[in-house]
This record gives sequence, C-alpha cells and structure tokens, in this order.
Amino acid sequence: MRSLALLTFATALACASLVAQDLPETNPFHGDSAAVLAGMGQFRQRCADCHGMDARGVRAPDLTQVWSSGRTDRGLFNTVRNGVSNTEMPAFTAPRTSDRDVWQILAYLRTLASPAPTDLPTGDVGNGALVFENNCSGCHRVNAKGGLLGPELSRIGSGRSREVLLSRIRTGIDEPRPGFQPVTITPESGPPIRGVKKNEDLFSVQIMDTRERIQGYRKDQVRSVVDIRRSMMPIFGPERLSDSDLTDLVRYLGTLRGFDPSVEQRPPVVF
Ligand code: HEC
Ligand code: HEC
Repeated sequence: MRSLALLTFATALACASLVAQDLPETNPFHGDSAAVLAGMGQFRQRCADCHGMDARGVRAPDLTQVWSSGRTDRGLFNTVRNGVSNTEMPAFTAPRTSDRDVWQILAYLRTLASPAPTDLPTGDVGNGALVFENNCSGCHRVNAKGGLLGPELSRIGSGRSREVLLSRIRTGIDEPRPGFQPVTITPESGPPIRGVKKNEDLFSVQIMDTRERIQGYRKDQVRSVVDIRRSMMPIFGPERLSDSDLTDLVRYLGTLRGFDPSVEQRPPVVF
C-alpha cells in the first residue's frame, strides 16, 4: 500500500515535470479549424459569462487584445491553467480541463484577436493623469487611491481596448454589472437614498450609498427598492471633456496595466 502510494507520487511528479517541459511555446492548434470550432463551444460555455460572448469583456477583460498587448501563447495558457489569484478568474485545472481544451479555446480566441495597433499611441500621460484625478478618481480607485463607487481601474489598460474605453467614457454604460447596479431606496420617511447594490435576497438589500457607506435595508421596512437601468458611470460628452483631454485620459488609462499574470504568477485560487 505504502509503496503503491509512493509509486503514484513518483508518477505524478514525473508527469508534472513532463508537462512543464513539454508545454509548447506557441499554440499547437493555431489555425486548425476543427480546434477553433471546439474551442468556440468551450469558450461560450465556460468563459463567456465573464468575458462576454464576443470575448470583448463584460466583468472580465477583453480577451481580443491580449496578444497585441504582448502576451504569449504559453503565458496565456498558464493564466487559464492557474487562474489569477484574488480575482474572479478561476484556475481551469486537469482533469476537467485538458491541455488540449485550453489550447483549443486559445486557438478560437486567436481568431478574434485584433491586430496590434499600427497607429502610435498619442496623448499626454501627465495631463491624462490630471484629468483622471479631477473627473474620475472620486469613484475609481487606482493603485489604492480613489473612490469605491465604481470598479477599481489599476489594470484597465491591459483589459480594454482604446475603442472600448472611449465608448465607456463618452457614451456611458447601459447594462450595469453585478456589484454596480444602481438602485434607489425610498424609506418610509426621509429622502430617497441612491447607491450601488452589493447584495440582495428576498427580504433585504445591501448597498453602498454615494458616500461609500455600506447600508442594509429590510425590504418590508422601506417604501420601495428600484433598480435604475443606467449605470452610475456618468456620460462625459464633449461639453464636459474636450477631445484632447479625452485623448490624454485614454493614453493614461492605457498605462494602467497592473501586473502581468503570466509573468508574475501569484498562488492560484482553485474553484
Ligand atoms: C468567473 C469569471 C471568469 C471566468 C468564468 C473566466 N474568467 Fe478569465 N478572467 C476573469 C477576470 C476577472 C480576469 C482578470 C484578472 C485580473 O484582474 O488580472 C480574467 C483574466 C483572464 C485572462 C488574462 C487576461 C490578461 O490580460 O492577461 C485570460 C487569458 C483569461 N481570463 C481567459 C479565460 C478563459 C479562457 C476562460 C474560460 C476557460 C476564462 N477566462 C473564464 C474572470 C473570469
Ligand atoms: C459617480 C461615479 C463615477 C465617476 C465620476 C466616474 N465613474 Fe467610471 N464607473 C462608475 C461605475 C459605477 C462603473 C461601473 C459600471 C458598470 O459596469 O456597471 C464605472 C465604470 C467605468 C469603466 C468601465 C470599467 C470596465 O471594467 O469596463 C471605465 C473605463 C470607467 N468607469 C472610467 C471612468 C473615467 C475615465 C472617469 C472619469 C472621466 C469615470 N469613470 C468617472 C462610476 C463613476
């Protein structure tokens, strides 16, 4: 029994090192149409909830930009395998997810990848940071500084293309994501309270109000709880933000890349 356990352990070790050694640098299924099709099915089932049906990002980064932002096939493979700790990105581990599954999904994503941007980035990063501080940091945290009503943006530059950022800022966000659903609570007496919904069940709702206080309410003790369709993210039209400030701002956001999970791998969270 003991020797069997040892043997199994040794085999597992051997396999692990074999896998590590054999992990190819580039995707062996690149351009293989059957693999791309299989990868599409898997992606839609297992990744699209977070990354979006078109992989352009919902609650999780835009995956059509990863190659143009310098990620390698092998690095992406490791990210999918190991997940990104302290984020929602789970580890997709064997045996449920084989190497082949991961490569096929990546082969599919590759077909959606946008080409590396050919136009040189323009805009003044310094002024962009200032514009951010004046207009955005009240709601958004970057590198541990700023407000909490909106999502943290410390690595928004690696997850969103320039086009997506521009449209988020200029036209706002139509469908608020979980955790940022705006809500108005009208108490039995006193003025209505606005905030973003952090939690809700049949009987109660927790919000972060516009002063960043977490508040809980029992539904039978308030007059109404109403979801607002439009996100709290304001629309910054040209009257609020000039084209040149916008260019600078987006350039600045592009520099916010946090860490590269494929290079700096923290311990994984296994789901
Ligand atoms: C529960 C939500 C969730 C699911 C499901 C999910 N992801 Fe993610 N993923 C995330 C989040 C959040 C991040 C951003 C992590 C961070 O902040 O660095 C991420 C990051 C990534 C990255 C790194 C992007 C970069 O810029 O380096 C890749 C690649 C990725 N996911 C691929 C996948 C694939 C492939 C699947 C399906 C097999 C998948 N993800 C499923 C939430 C998810
Ligand atoms: C009043 C608070 C508030 C202000 C001010 C604000 N935002 Fe937002 N922002 C939000 C909220 C809330 C969300 C989350 C919306 C959602 O996805 O449901 C958001 C989302 C975003 C997103 C999308 C993040 C993602 O992961 O796709 C970007 C980008 C963004 N804001 C940038 C900015 C910039 C740039 C400014 C300044 C010009 C700004 N915001 C000002 C509240 C704000």
